[in-house]
Amino acid sequence: MKQALRSQNWFGKKGKDGFIYRAWMKKQGIPGHEFDGRPVIGICNTWSELTPCNGHFRELAECVKRGVYEAGGFPVEFPVMSLGETLMKPTAMLFRNLVSMDVEESIRGNPIDGVVLLCGCDKTTPALLMGACSVDIPSIIVSGGPMLTGKHRGQSISTSDIWRFSEAVRSGKMTNEELLLAEAGMCRSDGHCAVMGTASTMACMAESLGMTLPGNAAIPAPDAARKVLAHMSGTEIVKMVKEDRKPSDILTRQAFENAIMVNAAIGGSTNFVIHLLAIAGRVGIDLTLEDFDKYSKDIPLIANLQPSGQYFMEDMYYAGGLPAVIKGLLDTLNSDAVTVNGKSIKDNYAGSVSYNEEVISGVDKPFNPTSGIIVLKGNLCETGAVIKPSAASEHLMKHKGRAVVFDNIEDYKARVDDPNLDVDETCVMVLKNVGPKGYPGMPEVGNMGLPQKILAKGVKDMVRISDGRMSGTGFGTVVLHATPEATEGGNFALVQNGDIIELDVRARLLQLHVSDEELAARRQQWKAPAPHVERGYVGQYIKHVEQANQGADLDFLKGKSGSEVTRDSH
Ligand code: FES
Ligand code: MG
Repeated sequence: MKQALRSQNWFGKKGKDGFIYRAWMKKQGIPGHEFDGRPVIGICNTWSELTPCNGHFRELAECVKRGVYEAGGFPVEFPVMSLGETLMKPTAMLFRNLVSMDVEESIRGNPIDGVVLLCGCDKTTPALLMGACSVDIPSIIVSGGPMLTGKHRGQSISTSDIWRFSEAVRSGKMTNEELLLAEAGMCRSDGHCAVMGTASTMACMAESLGMTLPGNAAIPAPDAARKVLAHMSGTEIVKMVKEDRKPSDILTRQAFENAIMVNAAIGGSTNFVIHLLAIAGRVGIDLTLEDFDKYSKDIPLIANLQPSGQYFMEDMYYAGGLPAVIKGLLDTLNSDAVTVNGKSIKDNYAGSVSYNEEVISGVDKPFNPTSGIIVLKGNLCETGAVIKPSAASEHLMKHKGRAVVFDNIEDYKARVDDPNLDVDETCVMVLKNVGPKGYPGMPEVGNMGLPQKILAKGVKDMVRISDGRMSGTGFGTVVLHATPEATEGGNFALVQNGDIIELDVRARLLQLHVSDEELAARRQQWKAPAPHVERGYVGQYIKHVEQANQGADLDFLKGKSGSEVTRDSH
């Protein structure tokens, strides 16, 4: 006999308990037959006016509901904390793990048989997926979709231009009035950032993991196809509940390897590394930092998207979207990996095509033969650091230079434009104490702007190293996620002005040319900085957050508690 759904442990009860579980739901106008044992589908909504990238999600949720009803399910929409990348201080990343807890407990504590995760702005995707994985009931992701390409004075612009514009203003090549005009033209529709930044990277990650219907990643937010996809995901989740297809059935080791390979092919964000590691930790897959290098090293860049390339997500969609990329990689991917619709990657994508080889090429004529994330090792980052070569400058990929050290973000801001700062373009800029514990929350400040006097010379890139992150829209020869972070007292904490640092990306080396004896002497002198906050969530975050090379999840959130709750509320 088929087992009753978990929602029947609420709505199917007799007597006092069933009365309590149903009666208050009925005040929303829900007729009695909805409680008859049909799949109850949660729609986890990160809508918020403080998360403008997800501002259209109430409408999107309505489309999902139509699909759920059509398939005979009972949809219930619920809010969770939302994370707006642009507004939240000190960084939205500080709260990714908090949201994952909100999602996990909201699903587990409620009569939900399957869940549709509405994800958009950067952190909302990993946070929702992490939470859902720790419950492990049937789950499907619907992304909000990218914005239409921004326009300014006839030019296409996007989030990636912010870094260029702000340096142009600082070096006097652009006026503030001009900057305001660009600001008005950049975000001109619903949706998340329009390049292969972190939000698009996360949407591609979700699709390549098999957690979305095919084609989800690139459909622009305002396109009617986005609504259709939401509708179809609503019908699909009902089917998933009936077939009991859970994240743990989809998120196998093979799925994670696929996501790493696809991320290389699209030139995805470095933030991908931290989020994928954290998701793997929830489903109990032993993924390591080294796996990112191993599985991406032979993958060429076949999507020509900013910041690694030229085009925008809208162009990617018209060129065939992520399906065209996956089709190109089918021979390399674990093509038997199963996806939300029960079909394999091969079944879903074998018929996909690229309609524009300028945007999505074949693997035989890539835009860059090497891509992906390179994992660096050496005494400056004993447990690893990362760099995205497709966004770096070729002439700096092998470089030795004198360190110019900033102890923290305030120190950097106070001194970077000081005309007396002892720096030239051959130097290596080092920013400490912007890691998970140190900032706290590991903000996107790793692509720190160059000193004004160097910009004035027309120099566009320098080697920069930090224990922080960089926006997925950022670019440059930027070494990120140095671990252990400075606050933890590894060698990264000990680097001083004038030390010689060697970066050799192809040799995967990041070396501090200081003797072990000297480092030992410096370590004797080193004192751990006091935590910024002791109280509340942030205090607990600082105590429990793991290092970037492990995914920066909270140690006590790893793994899952499952979906069973045996005790009633009254
Ligand atoms: Fe929301 Fe870029 S700020 S996706
Ligand atoms: Mg960001």
